[in-house]
This record gives sequence, structure tokens and C-alpha cells, in this order.
Amino acid sequence: MNENEVGQFFDALTDDYTATIERCFPRYREMLWALLDYLPKDRQFESILELGCGTGNFSVLLHEAFPDARLRLVDISGESLDVCRSRFPEANDAIEFEEQDFRELTYDNGTFDLVVSSIAIHHLVPDEKQRLFRQCRDWLTDDGIFNFADQCAGATDDLYARHIANWQQLTFQAGSTAEEWEMWMQHQQEHDHHDTLADQLAWLTKAGFTVVDCPWRYLLWSVIQARK
Ligand SMILES: C[S@@+](CC[C@H](N)C(=O)[O-])C[C@H]1O[C@@H](n2cnc3c(N)ncnc32)[C@H](O)[C@@H]1O
Repeated sequence: MNENEVGQFFDALTDDYTATIERCFPRYREMLWALLDYLPKDRQFESILELGCGTGNFSVLLHEAFPDARLRLVDISGESLDVCRSRFPEANDAIEFEEQDFRELTYDNGTFDLVVSSIAIHHLVPDEKQRLFRQCRDWLTDDGIFNFADQCAGATDDLYARHIANWQQLTFQAGSTAEEWEMWMQHQQEHDHHDTLADQLAWLTKAGFTVVDCPWRYLLWSVIQARK
């Protein structure tokens, strides 16, 4: 992956990001709801890392759910991060913004009790994903949780092809155009790396997480939770 190109793609999309993603990613809002809803109800997280916050659609929900938590919001797209920052007009030192590539991140062990991400990690190739999973385990406290939503491949080529065909149909029904679909498919071909859900659950177990599950799934999109 050329990280600058991914950043530039999302820089250019920033102004129209939310409208585009809601039109083109079926059940996007439900996925964000599930990402939050399946966290243990009795936990008040104190230090949260979000990988690939983009323009902050999930960051805002996180802040509402855990208003006292320290948030570190990371993205490679400076323009997206600027929009995200603007959504926290009263931000103080408790909310930090970091323009950085996932592969360059370094934090002390046990820094966060929650690491989250929404449709961002699939920009990494399998080896990079597995390294990031191990790092997330290290960055978490002993009772920490890694909770992310992402695009996955189907378990077989025919299932994957059905996911893509159903996705296209739903996107067109939601008002998208052939041109917009082509834009996503080109981005996908150049920058996305869809691995199967089974592989990612196995990599999380191998990384040392003791509980791994997928509490929500629709077509390519899965919510994956890994507890240390
Ligand atoms: C599809 S957007 C998702 C944004 C937001 N999380 C959401 O759910 O709407 C993917 C985000 O991941 C970021 N991203 C992709 N690859 C990255 C990398 N290697 N390092 C940091 N951020 C990356 C992009 O810049 C983009 O903002």
C-alpha cells in the first residue's frame, strides 16, 4: 500500500465523506451502533485509542458514551483529522489528534483500556494487520478490549462475489451511480486488503487475545471484538 495515496484519497473525499459513505456502505450507521453496543455495559473506559478516526463519525459516539475518557484519535489523512477536530470545539487535553500511519505508531504497553477502529484496518496487508493486532494487545491494559469494524473477504470466492454483487445492488438502490461505484472499486483494487473473518479471528487469538468474537456482520462488514 502507498500510505500517501490512501491519505490523499481520503483528503479528497473529506467534504463529502459522510454523505458518500452513508449512500455507498449499507447499514453503516447500524455498524457503528453495534461497534459501541457490544462493549460491556458495566465498563467505563478511561483511555481510548481510535485507529483511522476519519472525520470522526465514531469518535463523536465514543465521546458521548465515555465523556470522561481520554481519547487519542489517529488518522493518516490530515484533512479528515481537521474535520474530526472541528467536531470537538471544546476539546481539551483529554482529546488528542495524531496524524500518523498505523504502521508507525508507538505507545507504551498498557496505555489504553480500549482500542477501536471502524473500516480502516483493511488498508493494511495481512502481515501488517497481524503486527498491528500484536501491538494492540501490548498497548492494552490487562483487562483491555480491542473492538473494531472492518471489511472482510468471504470464506470462498463465490461467497465474496455474492457480497460484492449485493453491495453494488444496495448502493445503486441508495442513489449511487456507476461512476461512484467505479471509484470505490478502483480504490479497493489499489488500496484495500480484505481478509476472511476466520483468518482475522485466528490472528487475534494468535496475538494473545483470550476471547474473540464477531457479534455483528452484514455482507463485507464485521464487528470484531477481542478481549485480552
Ligand atoms: C473508510 S475511512 C473510515 C473513517 C471512520 N472511521 C468511519 O468509520 O467513518 C478509513 C480511514 O482510515 C484512514 N487510514 C487508512 N489507512 C491508514 C493508515 N495506514 N494509517 C492511518 N490511517 C489510515 C483513512 O485516512 C480514513 O480516514
